[in-house]
Amino acid sequence: MAGGFGAATGGKEFEAKITTLVIISCIMAATGGLMFGYDVGISGGVTSMPEFLKEFFPVVYKNQQIPGLAGNYCKYDNQGLQLFTSSLYLAALIATFFASYTTKTLGRKITMLIAGNLFLVGTAFNAAAVNLPMLIVGRLLLGCGVGFANQAIPLFLSEIAPTRIRGALNILFQLNITIGILVANLINYGTAKLAHGYGWRISLGLAGIPALLLTVGSLVVVDTPNSLIARGKLEEGKAILRRIRGADNVDPEYSEIVEASRAAAEVKNPFQNLLKRRNRPTLVIAIMMQIFQQFTGINAIMFYAPVLFQTLGFKSDASLYSAVITGLVNVLSTLVSVVFVDKAGRRMLLIEAGVQMFLSQMGVAIVMGLKVKDHSNNLGHGLGVLVLVFVCSFVASFAWSWGPLGWLIPSETFAVEARSAGQSVTVSTNMLFTFVIAQAFLSMLCHMKFGIFIFFSGWVLVMTLFTIFFIPETKNIPIDEMNDQVWKKHWYWKRYMNDFQDGPNGKYPQV
Ligand code: BGC
Repeated sequence: MAGGFGAATGGKEFEAKITTLVIISCIMAATGGLMFGYDVGISGGVTSMPEFLKEFFPVVYKNQQIPGLAGNYCKYDNQGLQLFTSSLYLAALIATFFASYTTKTLGRKITMLIAGNLFLVGTAFNAAAVNLPMLIVGRLLLGCGVGFANQAIPLFLSEIAPTRIRGALNILFQLNITIGILVANLINYGTAKLAHGYGWRISLGLAGIPALLLTVGSLVVVDTPNSLIARGKLEEGKAILRRIRGADNVDPEYSEIVEASRAAAEVKNPFQNLLKRRNRPTLVIAIMMQIFQQFTGINAIMFYAPVLFQTLGFKSDASLYSAVITGLVNVLSTLVSVVFVDKAGRRMLLIEAGVQMFLSQMGVAIVMGLKVKDHSNNLGHGLGVLVLVFVCSFVASFAWSWGPLGWLIPSETFAVEARSAGQSVTVSTNMLFTFVIAQAFLSMLCHMKFGIFIFFSGWVLVMTLFTIFFIPETKNIPIDEMNDQVWKKHWYWKRYMNDFQDGPNGKYPQV
């Protein structure tokens, strides 16, 4: 997600069938993830299409057409072009805060409906754009859609799904992001070949399909029992709980939801609560993981792969299918994470990937440093393939580590009292740094040249050391036992736990 699901609220399992409503919720997870992934993946291919550049970024178009004018590393260095990609994340960052309000006061269903509509209008603006402002307004609207969707869908799903499939839904969301990116790459590959140069309109317009699915889906679903109960609609909440669970006796789960919303209502200022000393370890880890996830440099590849491959001297067609290859590697490697996350554990995946990402990025930097000069470029076929292999190795290791775990670890470590506010901080920090990379990468490439990959590998080194010392293993630990089993035992974080008073059942903190 960039979503990150509030993972299970506890270890308890209530009576629950997989009902139609639960199936529709899985579809919502799919459309939310697809929509986000599609937006991530589509801009890179579109910005490498000459017709699109000619229409909106004539300066970049000229750089591309006249060899030697701007040098290999700088031909795409344009703030407007980067704004086309980055504006979405800026809007998403701001929208997350409004969405957190509507999710609470109007409910999850209405918030998802708002997201669907924003996506539809944004897509229409983009596909019909005749000038740069229209294009940017479209991206801003899509970004608002992402902000609303990423806040409401994860909450909606974690509340409606039976406990036993919550974890799976978490990774399903990330998997769908990667599928969305791949689909976008494939569509760009197809539309770039269309005659008359309107391919980019089709690429941008097809985002309307997941947007429509989300809009219709949010009309069909009911609001969650948790949201209804928290808004005082107790009877309606109970009736809906019966419907979604397909069971008559839902009293135990109902009582727990009522109790949880009473406790949540007592937390006067959730963000202030988040700053309490005992929540410091999870807060620091959640924020650092978002910064690190983006400073792996993954979105330099996801957003700008086709542009990057052209910088390396690949032809337009080869650049687009190389992006398809990296997209495919991204999807398949996310599946590796599904298999290993609860077996090998989180730390193992993060540390292994740290080594692999470091080596792959150094590989790209060395080949580029030796062969790609400002005005000459003699990579040749063999070295071109070698760079592609390094890039795929980098993407693969990201996809089984920082991709899904960057979302999973915060969602499973925040204490129940801090989970919702923690989720907003996680999402918005991620969006902020995604924005930074999207806005800066092409300029950094121009100024730092191949050194940009050494820069990212430096970050990878730092985050791997951070993992070794500060990220504890959380595999197979029930959510409500994190304090006892993880934080109080950690060599460093245990010092933050001394103001932690055990609640009556010895597990929950006193608020
Ligand atoms: C990240 C995105 C990234 C995607 C790539 C997600 O976990 O949050 O920024 O584009 O992974 O698959």
